[in-house]
Amino acid sequence: MKVDLNQDLMQLQEEFLQAIDLAVSTQQVEELRIRYLGKKGKLTAILRGMGALSADERPLAGRLANQVRADLETQLTTARLRAEKKESAARLASEKLDITLPGRSTPVGCRHPLTQIIDEICDVFIGLGYSIAEGPEIELDKYNFELLRLPPGHPARDTQDTFYVSDAILLRTQTSPVQIRVMQQNQPPIKIVCPGKVYRSDTPDATHSPIFHQIEGLVVDQGVTMGDLVGSLQLFARKLFGEQTEIRLRPHHFPFTEPSCEVDISCWTCGGSGCRTCKNEGWIEVLGAGMVHPEVLTNCGIDPDVYSGFAFGIGVERTAMGRFGIDDIRNFFENDVRFLGQFR
Ligand code: PHE
Repeated sequence: MKVDLNQDLMQLQEEFLQAIDLAVSTQQVEELRIRYLGKKGKLTAILRGMGALSADERPLAGRLANQVRADLETQLTTARLRAEKKESAARLASEKLDITLPGRSTPVGCRHPLTQIIDEICDVFIGLGYSIAEGPEIELDKYNFELLRLPPGHPARDTQDTFYVSDAILLRTQTSPVQIRVMQQNQPPIKIVCPGKVYRSDTPDATHSPIFHQIEGLVVDQGVTMGDLVGSLQLFARKLFGEQTEIRLRPHHFPFTEPSCEVDISCWTCGGSGCRTCKNEGWIEVLGAGMVHPEVLTNCGIDPDVYSGFAFGIGVERTAMGRFGIDDIRNFFENDVRFLGQFR
């Protein structure tokens, strides 16, 4: 009996040593612990045989059993530590994060160059006490032409041919119909700028586009004169193109203003001496303007004997092309990010 028990213990130890070598995960180590040292484990099973031993055999067998248990426990601890180390190394490797990698940058956009110029121009006029007014791009012929003294068949309509929705409805060719809408609904004093898209059935080329932008200005009050118009435009030109900028008024004709003029500014490239930008003129045309025609005031319910006003229309694309040195208007509408990204 004595021999059997000792032998069983030695055999158990040997068997365990082989098994522990193969245990690589903490789970496998735990399974071994339960199988050998657990309540229903192999060691407990062997020790159950102790009862059959004689009183003098028991202490010896007990000592051997304790030695085996201690040995198994040591081996299990070592194996568990080894497995834990391995598992944590594997986990770290799988969660590895290279903090030296350059970050992924989020592409940041910028406002369209036309939006930048529109905001800049509007800011100048807001500083002069103007408010912003807006009107529809799909407009009545009545507002775009008739009430502005361009009745059907008027020759000036030829230069502003557009896209018609019906005989009476069209895509506006100018921002001037906003003058009509504002004056019909408000009595003076009126001081507005109206930025917006306009349309004409022009064939696109470097300087023409069927869609472009204008900023209309309108001031109506008692005693408004051409001098006020010149002063406002002078200030606008200097704010946008620099303090040394001069303006020049040339007589012109618009049906809705009288007198009318086209306004040039001294060339932003050469300052007036003549260069390629201004085609050797020294001047560049940027807007049309004039004193609101008395009939237009009457058309909108404003008494021309009491009130007078001036209006102007700024070409946004032309201004932006000058400011940014852009030589083809089509760039604005092609949405090429290589172009747009240059205005950050
Ligand atoms: N609307 C005119 C155009 O498009 C410009 C303009 C506006 C002229 C206001 C005079 C006054 O040509």
